[in-house]
Amino acid sequence: MAKGKTTVFFCQNCGYESSKWLGQCPGCREWNTFAEEPAPAKGSAGYRSRAHGGLGHGSASLAAEPVRLSNISVDESQKMSSGLGELDRVLGGGIVSGSLVLVGGDPGIGKSTLLLQVCYNLVKEGHRVLYISGEESARQIKLRAQRIGELDGELLILCETNLELIRQALERTKPEIAVVDSIQTMYSENVSSAPGSVSQVRESTGVFLQIAKGMGISVFLVGHVTKEGVVAGPRVLEHMVDTVLYFEGDRHAAYRILRGVKNRFGSTNEIGVFEMRDTGLKEVANPSEYMLSGKMEDASGSVVACSMEGTRPVLVEVQALVCRSNLPMPRRTTAGMDFNRVNLLLAVLEKRADIHMSSCDVYVNIAGGIRMSEPAVDLGLILALVSSYKDISVDAKTIAFGEVGLSGEIRAVNMAQQRVQEAKKLGFDTVLMPEVSVRTVTGAKGIRVVGLKTVKEAVQYLTASKKY
Ligand code: TYD
Ligand code: MG
Repeated sequence: MAKGKTTVFFCQNCGYESSKWLGQCPGCREWNTFAEEPAPAKGSAGYRSRAHGGLGHGSASLAAEPVRLSNISVDESQKMSSGLGELDRVLGGGIVSGSLVLVGGDPGIGKSTLLLQVCYNLVKEGHRVLYISGEESARQIKLRAQRIGELDGELLILCETNLELIRQALERTKPEIAVVDSIQTMYSENVSSAPGSVSQVRESTGVFLQIAKGMGISVFLVGHVTKEGVVAGPRVLEHMVDTVLYFEGDRHAAYRILRGVKNRFGSTNEIGVFEMRDTGLKEVANPSEYMLSGKMEDASGSVVACSMEGTRPVLVEVQALVCRSNLPMPRRTTAGMDFNRVNLLLAVLEKRADIHMSSCDVYVNIAGGIRMSEPAVDLGLILALVSSYKDISVDAKTIAFGEVGLSGEIRAVNMAQQRVQEAKKLGFDTVLMPEVSVRTVTGAKGIRVVGLKTVKEAVQYLTASKKY
C-alpha cells in the first residue's frame, strides 16, 4: 500500500485486496467486483485475523508456552446435537463448543428458519441460546417462530447490529450458542466503511472468532450469497471460520440441500436434505426416495444414476432430451450437471460409440434440482442421452453408475457395494456398473449386476433391451 494511502480496493466476491482499482479480480476472475474501502486499521480484529492466519488472539500474551499434544485432552462427546440429524451429519456429528460456523446461501432459501429451528431444539435440551438478528425485528422473529411451533424453554433474542453492544450482551448473558443473522448487517465503529463491505464483514467475523474461541461460545454466522457484488459474499470469510455450510436448492421447489464446503471437525462431502413446509424445515431421511418421486416409467431419456454424497449413496433421475436442431449451432443446456462434462460425454459417444448428436439439441437435467458433480453419474447420463436419441426407454427398475473415460472405457468407482445396496433397498432389480468394480460387490442376492467395459457395450445393452 502506498505511503499515507487511506483507502484500498477489495474484490467483493473473494476479498482480494489491491491498492488500485482493477477490472477483473486476479483472485477469482470475476469482473467488476472491486470497490473502494477505507484501509482497515492495523489493530482491528479483521486485520489481525487476516494477517495471522485467523486465530485472532487479541492481546499479546507475555510468554507463549508450547504444550505437549499428548497432554491435550478432548472429549468427543462434547459435540452437542442440534436436534436435526441432517445438520449434525454435515457438521461432523454435532456442534463443537467454541466453533464458528458459517451458513451461506441465497436470500430466502431458509437460513434463518433453519437456525431458528436449531435454537428451538437446543433450548428444549436446556442450553442457553442467544439469537442475534440484524435483519428482522423481534416481532418478525416472533411471527416466524409461531409458524415453526411451540417453544419449549427460554430463547433470548437480540435485535442489534453494533458489534460492541453485541459483545457486551454476549458477555452479560453468557450463552452456549449464539446465532448471528446475518454477518453482512453487523458493523464495527473501528472500521469506517459501510456494513456489508469486505472490511466490515471481516472485522465482524474477527470479533466473533475471538468471542467463540475466548468465551467458548459456538457461533453460527449467516451469510447471504450475493451476485451483484454490492455486499461482500460469504466467500470472503471462508478461511476465517471453522466450518462452512451452504444451503442450496431451488427456491420454487420444496427441498433444500445443506452442503459442507469446509469442516475442521469432519468430512466435507456430507449433505443434509430438508423439505420446506409451511411449518418450517423438515428433515428428509431418505433422499433417494425423495429424489425419485415423480419419475415416469417407460419414458425415454430417463435413467436412474447413483452418486455418493459423503457416506450416503443418493439415487437421482438423470434426464436427457435429444432432438433435431433447427439452429446452425445446436443448443446445449444442462441443469444440475457440469456443462463441459456433458459436452465431453457427447464427444466420447461420437468417437467411441459412433453416435452422432452434433446436429441435435441436447438438454440435460437432474430431476429434483440437486447438483451432481461425481463422475459416477457419467454412465447414467450416457444411457439417458442414447435412450432419448434412439427413443428407447431404459427399464424403470435399472440403475447405472460408472465413470466414463475419454477412450470410452467405463472406469471403476468407489463404494460400489453401498450403491448396489441402496438400489436393492429401493426395489431396483438391475445394476449397470463398471466391469472392474463388480468383484468388489458382495452379497448382491436378489439384484442383477451387469458389468460393462465400454460405452459401446453400454449402448449395445440398451439397444438389445429394446421392447417392441
Ligand atoms: P428464511 O429463513 O427467511 O430465508 P433466509 O434467512 O435464508 O433469507 O426463509 C424464507 C422462506 O421460507 C420464505 O420464502 C418463506 C419460507 N418459509 C416456509 O415456507 N415455511 C416456514 O415455515 C417458514 C418459516 C418460511
Ligand atoms: Mg434470513
